[in-house]
Amino acid sequence: MWVRQIHRWLSMAFTLAVIANIVAMTMQVQAVWIGFLALVPLIPLLATGLYLFALPYLGQHTGARSEASS
Ligand code: HEM
Repeated sequence: MWVRQIHRWLSMAFTLAVIANIVAMTMQVQAVWIGFLALVPLIPLLATGLYLFALPYLGQHTGARSEASS
């Protein structure tokens, strides 16, 4: 399912951005764009994550998930 794949890879991008933020913080670098680096993947992460959350409640017509019966 492609939304799940996007969420997967965005989570990796977000993780790298968080690491970059921590590195910048420890090096006392004051740069707003490093903060935005984490915010940019986080917004689509939130959207795709909320979609993934809603999927089991919307029905089984979109994905290959089969364990949402109980
Ligand atoms: C921003 C709000 C977020 C929401 C609402 C959200 C929501 C979700 C939901 C509902 C699932 C599916 C769980 C399932 O039914 O199996 C999921 C999977 C996942 N999430 Fe998120 N998530 C968010 C952010 C993140 C972040 C920040 C990370 C990591 C940096 C992350 C990493 C993952 C991974 C790796 C999966 C598994 C994907 C897969 O099964 O292929 N998510 N998320």
